[in-house]
Amino acid sequence: MIKNDSQLTLENVSFSWPSGVNALDQCNFSISKKGLWMIVGSNGSGKSTLFRLISGMITPQTGKLVCTFKPALIFQNPEHQILLPSCGSDLMLSAPRNLKRKELHARIKSALAQVGLAGMFTRPIHTLSGGQKQRLAIAGAIVSEANLLLLDEPTALLDPENQLSILTIVQDLIQQSKHQMAALWITHRLEELAYCDGGVLMKRGEISKWYRGDELMKKLK
Ligand SMILES: Nc1ncnc2c1ncn2[C@@H]1O[C@H](COP(=O)(O)OP(=O)(O)O)[C@@H](O)[C@H]1O
Ligand SMILES: [Mg+2]
Repeated sequence: MIKNDSQLTLENVSFSWPSGVNALDQCNFSISKKGLWMIVGSNGSGKSTLFRLISGMITPQTGKLVCTFKPALIFQNPEHQILLPSCGSDLMLSAPRNLKRKELHARIKSALAQVGLAGMFTRPIHTLSGGQKQRLAIAGAIVSEANLLLLDEPTALLDPENQLSILTIVQDLIQQSKHQMAALWITHRLEELAYCDGGVLMKRGEISKWYRGDELMKKLK
C-alpha cells in the first residue's frame, strides 16, 4: 500500500566521495507535499549525489536523512535502465514480486497507458523512439509503486516536443494520483521551471531555500 504521510528530510547532511570531493555540504531540505519539485545547478554542484543519497545508494557521513517515500530513479538516458527486449518484459522487472500473473499484467498495461504507451506490451524496445523509452522508464517507476520520482535531467536528450510530453506526463501523474506522489526533477533547461510547484538552486554542494518557479527563473537569468 502506498502511504499518504511520506516525507523526505535532510538535516545538515554532508557527503564526501572517497576521492575527497565534498559533494554535499550541510544540506537542509525537505519534501512532504504532493508536487513537481525542481533542482537547478551547474555541473558538479552535487545534484546527482543528492539523488544517490535519497535513493539509499550511499549514506551521509554526517547529518540525518529520512526518506519514507518509495523512490525511483529516472536517468537522462533511458538506455541505462531498460534491460529486457520488450516493454512488457522490461516492466516486469520493476514489479513487486508477490503479484499474481493477471494482476501483474493489468498493472503493467495500466502503467503503459498512463505514459501514453497503451497497447505496447509486446512492442520490442528497439522500435521505440527516445521519448517513448523515457516514458517506459517512468512506467517502470509506476509499476514499482514508487511515490517519489527522482528524475535526473530526464529531458536533456529530447527534442522540444518530447520534452513537453515528459513534463506533462509527470505533472498529470502527480495531479491524478490518489496518493501522495511527488517528483524531484533536475534540469538545466530553465524554461522547465514554469511547470514546477517549487524549485531550489544547488551551488557547490549547498541547497538554497525553496523558490517559486518564476522567481528562480528570474534569479538565474
Ligand atoms: N561516483 C563518484 N565518485 C567520486 N566523485 C564523484 C562521484 N560522483 C560525483 N562525484 C563528484 O562529486 C561532485 C558532485 O557531482 P554530482 O553530484 O555528479 O554533480 P551534478 O549532478 O550536479 O553535476 C563532483 O565534484 C563530482 O566529480
Ligand atoms: Mg548530475
